[in-house]
Amino acid sequence: MAILVTGGAGFIGSHTVVELQNAGYDVVVVDNLSNSSEKSLERVKEITGKEVKFYKTDILDREGLEEIFAKEQIDSCIHFAGLKAVGESVQKPWEYYNNNIAGTLVLVDVMRKHNVKNIVFSSSSTVYGTPKSVPLTEKSPKGEPTNPYGWTKSMLEQILSDIQKADPEWNVILLRYFNPIGAHKSGKIGENPNGIPNNLMPYITQVAVGKLKELGVFGNDYPTKDGTGVRDYIHVVDLAEGHVKAVEKIKENPGLKIYNLGTGIGYSVLDIVKSFEEATGVKIPYVIKERRAGDIAENYADATLAKEELGWVAKNGIKEMCEDSWRWQSMNPNGFED
Ligand code: NAD
Ligand code: UFG
Repeated sequence: MAILVTGGAGFIGSHTVVELQNAGYDVVVVDNLSNSSEKSLERVKEITGKEVKFYKTDILDREGLEEIFAKEQIDSCIHFAGLKAVGESVQKPWEYYNNNIAGTLVLVDVMRKHNVKNIVFSSSSTVYGTPKSVPLTEKSPKGEPTNPYGWTKSMLEQILSDIQKADPEWNVILLRYFNPIGAHKSGKIGENPNGIPNNLMPYITQVAVGKLKELGVFGNDYPTKDGTGVRDYIHVVDLAEGHVKAVEKIKENPGLKIYNLGTGIGYSVLDIVKSFEEATGVKIPYVIKERRAGDIAENYADATLAKEELGWVAKNGIKEMCEDSWRWQSMNPNGFED
C-alpha cells in the first residue's frame, strides 16, 4: 500500500517524501508543478536511492485522480497541494478558493469513492488569526485570517472536520504548521520561491548569496522584545518527520485530530538575522520598513500535544535551520534551475 502525497514536488512535500521513503513507505506523488519543479523529485531519488512514482496531475482534474486511484494501491493521503502566497491571494481570491477548496473537494470525493478515508492536511497557524495570548495550543480559539489564503486553510479545516463527523470511517489529521525554514542536510532540496521571496528566510538567503541588496524588516514597533515580529520557526525536516508520525497515528483510527507543529520558541526578525550571521559568517544588511499589512506581532506554538500523542518533537535548533537554509541556497543559487 502507498501514501499519496499531493503537492509532493514542493518545499515541504519533497522533504516529507524523503522521510516517508526512509521510513519504508511507498509513495505516489501528484503535483501539477504550478509552484515547483520535477527536479526536486530527481533530487529526492539522489538522497534516498529510491524512485518516486510521480503523476503530473492537477487535483482539480477528477478523471486524472480517478485513474491514479484505480491504478495505485493507496491507503492514505498527505495533502500539501495548494497555493500559498499570502499577498497573491489578496489579488486573486477566486484562484485561491478554487484551487485550494475546490481542489480538496475533488480529491476527497475521489478518495471516498475508492474507500480511502485517511487524510493528513497541511494547515497553518494562520487559522488562529491574531492570537489573544501565546503560546498557542490546539484549544486556543480560531481567529480571523487576514487574507484569502488563510481563509482557505480555516475553511478546509472545517470542511474536513464536518466530513469526518458525518462519516466516522474517515480519519482526518489537521497539522497546523508554524514557520517552516531550513532544508535537507544534503543541500539537494530546499525552498525555491518564484520571483522575489515573500518569506523571511528565503529573502535572507538571497541577500546572502548576492541576489538581493538588503533585507527590509517590516516594522520595529511591535509589542515584542525588540519591536520586530516574533514567529516559531521550525526546521522543514522536523516538520516532515511530523508527517511520518501522523501517518503512523492514522492507522490507529483516531477520527479527527489537530496538532500544532512548532518548536515552542519565538524568534524575532532581528534574532533570525543575528542567528543567520552567526551560523554562516555572512553579514545581512537590513533597513527598517513600514509594517506589512496583515502581519501579526507574535505567534508561537505549544506543541505538547504532538509530543504526547505523536511522540514528535522538533530536534533542530535555529543554528541548524540557518546553516541548512544557507547550504541549500549557496549550493543552488538559482534553485532547481542550476
Ligand atoms: P509549495 O508551493 O512548495 O508546495 C505546494 C505544491 O502544491 C507545489 O509543488 C505546487 O506545484 C502544488 N500544487 C498547487 N496547486 C496544485 C493543484 N491544484 N494540483 C496539484 N498540485 C498543486 O508549498 P509548501 O511550502 O511546500 O507548502 C505545502 C503546504 O503546506 C501548502 O498547502 C501550504 O499552504 C501549507 N503551509 C505552508 C507553510 C509555509 O510557510 N511554507 C505554512 C503553513 C502551511
Ligand atoms: N519579514 C520581514 N521582511 C521580509 C519578510 C518577512 O521583516 O522580507 C518578517 C515578517 O514581518 C514577519 C516575519 O518576518 O514578522 C516572518 O514573515 P514570513 O513572511 O516569513 O512568515 P509569516 O509568519 O508572515 O507567514 C507564514 C507563512 C504563511 C502562514 C503564516 C502563518 O508564510 O503561509 O506563516 O502560519 F500563513
